[in-house]
Amino acid sequence: MDLDKVIDEFLNEIKGINDSESLAKIKAKYIGSKGIIKDLLKKISEVEPSQRKEFGSKVNQLKEKIEEEIKKKQNEIESLEIETKLKSEWVDITLTRLYDTVPAKHPVNTVKEELCNIFLEMGFSVVEGPEIELESYNFDRLNIPPNHPARDDHDSFYLDVKGMVDRYLLRTQTSPVQIRTMEKFKPPVAVVAPGRCFRRDTVDARHSHTFHQIEGLYVDKDVKFSDLKGIMLLFAQKMFGPKTKIRLRTDYFPFTEPSAELAVTCPGCGGSGCNVCSFSGWLEIAGCGMVHPQVFKNAGYDPNEVKGFAFGMGIERIAMVKYNITDIRLFYENDIRFLKMLSG
Ligand code: DAH
Repeated sequence: MDLDKVIDEFLNEIKGINDSESLAKIKAKYIGSKGIIKDLLKKISEVEPSQRKEFGSKVNQLKEKIEEEIKKKQNEIESLEIETKLKSEWVDITLTRLYDTVPAKHPVNTVKEELCNIFLEMGFSVVEGPEIELESYNFDRLNIPPNHPARDDHDSFYLDVKGMVDRYLLRTQTSPVQIRTMEKFKPPVAVVAPGRCFRRDTVDARHSHTFHQIEGLYVDKDVKFSDLKGIMLLFAQKMFGPKTKIRLRTDYFPFTEPSAELAVTCPGCGGSGCNVCSFSGWLEIAGCGMVHPQVFKNAGYDPNEVKGFAFGMGIERIAMVKYNITDIRLFYENDIRFLKMLSG
């Protein structure tokens, strides 16, 4: 038995190989359970007893050599595959135009516009407030005084401006736009205010230090909780489909009384229960309630003259519920495959 011939043939065969499938075939042919090496070992009984030991060790060396070559080839093929993948996904980020298609909108903007349009259709106006906000607007005037426990949920980024009594911070919510709107306009008002918010949160699948909210405020002479309910139902059905149902449960926010948490029937299963909604059938999407009389006072409205409702929701949250996205970080990583997916 010419062992040299075996190795020569093997080396010759493996030389031309550059894909894992062909490599697997060679591997089976030589060192598989029905391979050439196994056959050789079986033939040991045909070898002169005095030469069996040497023959055995030679076959083993042969096997080791073959295994080593296969490993080498495998690494080569893997790097080749990675290189090909990288080449196919390569983008020149210095180009002003990335695609041969029309530039795409970011999913957060797509959903923000969709939300604004729904409320515009109902007669609301779109307003904006500053991202760098005064502490008094972000908290105090919203009926969240300095030691109020509600502040703990809003771990904030403060801006150190020396000598300021009222500190600046990156707003933790869009709710201060309620105050700014009421200061600027006489009632009645019906506005939504989308925008970026910031909290000192550790980034994970559900949290981001930077995120977006949309705030709503409706004030008139005679506004009831049932008006809030009607608007929320209309909004939910336009956003998530006409069969969507809503659920309002008691909650607590210092700037609304009573306050509620809005949930919608899970768009994934229609409310029957699935792993998206943890088999509850419901997904919480917003906070809302009747504007607290103190908030009206703080903004210069007379609570005996007007009533109103407010609501606030996370834009990423709405997008996640609508498109079944499970990780908020996808919105900020700018992975082109993700951006393309929701570009419509
Ligand atoms: N600002 C609240 C938050 O960030 C959300 C919210 C709750 C806004 C109730 C509202 C409201 O306008 O009425 O958690």
